[in-house]
Amino acid sequence: MVIIYSLRNNSVFSMILLLWILVSGVFVWGKPATFEQDFHVTWSESHIKQIDQGRTIQLILDQGSGCGFASKVKYMFGRVSMKIKLVPGDSAGTVTAFYMNSDTDSVRDELDFEFLGNRTGQPYTVQTNIYAHGKGDREQRVNLWFDPAADFHTYSILWNHHHIVFYIDEVPIRVYKNNEAKGIPYPKTQAMGVFSTLWEADNWATRGGLEKIDWSKAPFNAYYKDFDIEGCAIAIPGAGSSCASNPRNWWEGVEYAGLNAIEARRYRWVRMNHIIYDYCQDKSRYPITPPECFAGI
Ligand SMILES: *[C@@H]1O[C@H](CO)[C@@H](O)[C@H](O)[C@H]1NC(C)=O
Repeated sequence: MVIIYSLRNNSVFSMILLLWILVSGVFVWGKPATFEQDFHVTWSESHIKQIDQGRTIQLILDQGSGCGFASKVKYMFGRVSMKIKLVPGDSAGTVTAFYMNSDTDSVRDELDFEFLGNRTGQPYTVQTNIYAHGKGDREQRVNLWFDPAADFHTYSILWNHHHIVFYIDEVPIRVYKNNEAKGIPYPKTQAMGVFSTLWEADNWATRGGLEKIDWSKAPFNAYYKDFDIEGCAIAIPGAGSSCASNPRNWWEGVEYAGLNAIEARRYRWVRMNHIIYDYCQDKSRYPITPPECFAGI
């Protein structure tokens, strides 16, 4: 929803009108879309159901198939967010993924949220990963401070020229800074699409593959709603866009160039209390700590 109001009539009336709009909550930043406006099914039409006139979708995983969907176009910078309610109960061996991907295998750029299911009562793990210029292997894992299958929560990825931030309900759980000046690769030359899948990965997901999927509990259902993509749409693959370098895009504003004080505090809280794995600390995997690990936020 876009509100255009003219500064020409800078009267008391327009101020009151603006206040009324703000107070009444009519003013919204996002533009929750229907599934069909922004996305199409990429894997197993029969396992994705539209509900609430396409404003919510149900992803289904059974022994026959998982499923997936993707945005119709790719984007250069911006913020994508959606509300997700994960598979409840015994979700061990299931993986729900929400990610951005350049879809260019040779030099892949990718920003991943992966939700690894667990046995009933055991906590979900949220894994994030970042591929820049074809190189990934930057996994971090957090446990959640709520049950992600009990209700919808908002998962967002902000991507601008300054940094990439993964958010869960306004809490930054991961920050990857643009440190190209220090020779650290940063995704910024390729547009990325928005993707999601629900699939079986019991060879690695839960306790490293020890816990197998229990098909007697199938079908496994996850729900998505409030699809919100704000970015520079690149309709033709490979085409550039003047939009992508427009410094007036809201996501390039100074307030999005770094975490604000509240976000920085929340991020510290996650780092102190909820990180369960960080490749930066994994000495057996990386005897030499990767350079981006020293770059701070
Ligand atoms: C599942 O629960 C176990 C036991 O609490 C925990 O060690 C593990 O990290 C959890 N998550 C996954 C994905 O295995």
